[in-house]
Amino acid sequence: MSTDVTEIGDILAAPTPSAWVVAAVSRWPEVLVDHANCEKKAASTALALIFAYPEDAPLSVALSRLAREELRHFEQVQRAMTALNVPFQRQRPGRYGAGLRAHVRTSEGGRKLDLLLTGALIEARSCERFRLLAPRLNAPLSALYEQLAHSESRHFELYVNFAQTLAPDEWRARLAWLAAREAELVTEPDEQLRFHSGPPRMV
Ligand SMILES: [Fe+2]
Ligand SMILES: [Fe+2]
Repeated sequence: MSTDVTEIGDILAAPTPSAWVVAAVSRWPEVLVDHANCEKKAASTALALIFAYPEDAPLSVALSRLAREELRHFEQVQRAMTALNVPFQRQRPGRYGAGLRAHVRTSEGGRKLDLLLTGALIEARSCERFRLLAPRLNAPLSALYEQLAHSESRHFELYVNFAQTLAPDEWRARLAWLAAREAELVTEPDEQLRFHSGPPRMV
């Protein structure tokens, strides 16, 4: 499988606003706690797809590997939290996940494609934000985020490749539509600061 869409800029409809970067750098501990949750969620999203499409053996094998990699990321984030003395704190979920899920079609003929494309968008946004944060944070997060940016770029390609194979005629237009929705969620002012949030609303 191959795709001619391999650059983040070809997937994401808008870049992360600089106001989010400034807030995330200054409030890095709470973003780190949310990041730990994101890694768990990435693993559970991959597992949910394996359960939903057990007849798709290539997808199951690829996502099984991906889920294990995401859990290793979770362990790395946990170690960084311990090293940096950042305690776990329960947080209310941000709007991003639910906001994206609201656009996933509920019946087949579209649902699998939408799940793959939203997976690609989440991974691409993660990759973009790790790249933005890595040079602006201190050790050990700078090195960790640089490493994770590489992983997430492989992950968005994986999801895009499966979407392209599934729906060669439809995937590009559907990706563009979903990417526009995703861009709204990460650029419009947000009540909460999260790894995938918009910039904090000014009060
Ligand atoms: Fe990850
Ligand atoms: Fe990932």
